[in-house]
Amino acid sequence: MSNPSLLILPGDGIGPEVMAQVRRIIDWFGDKRDLKIDVSEDLVGGAAYDAHGTPLHDDTMAKAQEVDAVLLGAVGGPKYDVLDFSVKPERGLLRLRKEMDLYANLRPAQCFDALADFSSLKRDVVAGLDIMIVRELTSGIYFGEPRGIFEEGNERVGINTQRYTESEIERVARSAFELARRRGNKVCSMEKANVMESGILWREVVQKVHDEEYADVELSHMYADAGAMQLCRWPKQFDVIVTDNLFGDLLSDAAAMLTGSLGMLPSASLGAPMANGRPKAMYEPVHGSAPDIAGQGKANPIACILSFAMALRYSFDQGAEADRLEAAVAKVLEDGVRTADLLGEEGVEPVSTEGMGDAVLAALDASL
Ligand code: NAD
Ligand code: IPM
Ligand code: MN
Repeated sequence: MSNPSLLILPGDGIGPEVMAQVRRIIDWFGDKRDLKIDVSEDLVGGAAYDAHGTPLHDDTMAKAQEVDAVLLGAVGGPKYDVLDFSVKPERGLLRLRKEMDLYANLRPAQCFDALADFSSLKRDVVAGLDIMIVRELTSGIYFGEPRGIFEEGNERVGINTQRYTESEIERVARSAFELARRRGNKVCSMEKANVMESGILWREVVQKVHDEEYADVELSHMYADAGAMQLCRWPKQFDVIVTDNLFGDLLSDAAAMLTGSLGMLPSASLGAPMANGRPKAMYEPVHGSAPDIAGQGKANPIACILSFAMALRYSFDQGAEADRLEAAVAKVLEDGVRTADLLGEEGVEPVSTEGMGDAVLAALDASL
């Protein structure tokens, strides 16, 4: 059997910094676990714009369609604020998601025990937290038509459209129910059916998929604003949350703070199964290019490292090795190794991005 293939797109800002640590970890699995992955690398976002005048070259798009998985760092930055909307770095990322049809974005928020005191919420509220936000990723207000800035009378109007078809809701609902069956068997669906027709349809379709195919899973519905409040009040009431593209974006950043830092949160964006039976997939940290700390060796690489762990689990059929990598990250945090974003305790010196990579590699060595 040929090796699995992985396309790495480091992107901008701290993207290449955190990705450099993941490269070391991929090499470690090749050397020490005989897990050979065919890695290729290319440009995305501002880096691709600088080289090609587009945030995603067609050749890169074609490569992404062929590989078993894509791992992306982050895109964007102030340098590109002046660009036309159509070539902004973020458009490259959105094109990847849309053309690969990665409709189910899995954003787990897990609170590592060692970080429970570091969250901005009380220890009791977050200790042991393990929730999964399933964000619809290829439709909704991010892609709906009409969109644009238009002249209307003597002023301009900015328009975006929230649009969901039944089949788009059905497929992401199925992803959420399937995940719930392998976890705590509970799904909470969030929308605003009280003010949006798309929310009414969302609620109806999720309920129908539940009743017809997943009656064994506990389903509840919540308005997304109340859901945001409940996420901060008592997040452990949730197991799987399924929601639309925009609400999922907001709720998952909020959930990030439950875990201590945005620098901790990985994600997997999954589409339909490929010929090998595995879903089409792209893995990426939830965080962005962090321009405020880029180039300073301060970035926490854990979100990107855990995104690679998700690739091991969902794309490469290496659940045991994913467990090994996640355990190595937990061990490093228990040992008190901290990048600057995780500092709270007095007298703890932060390690650099590379220092965190060193620590995870040492913990991996110790796991053998
Ligand atoms: P951001 O996630 O880049 O940063 C928010 C805050 O979190 C910053 O203070 C940053 O320093 C901190 N942070 C983020 N990741 C960190 C890490 N790994 N280690 C330590 N600290 C970390 O969000 P932003 O500032 O709103 O956006 C900056 C740029 O990134 C924008 O251009 C935005 O569009 C883009 N963005 C890209 C992605 C992506 O590529 N998937 C996601 C979000 C934002
Ligand atoms: C994310 C980001 C992206 C989004 C941007 C950069 C396009 O915020 O991945 O959460 O809004 O989806
Ligand atoms: Mn976001």
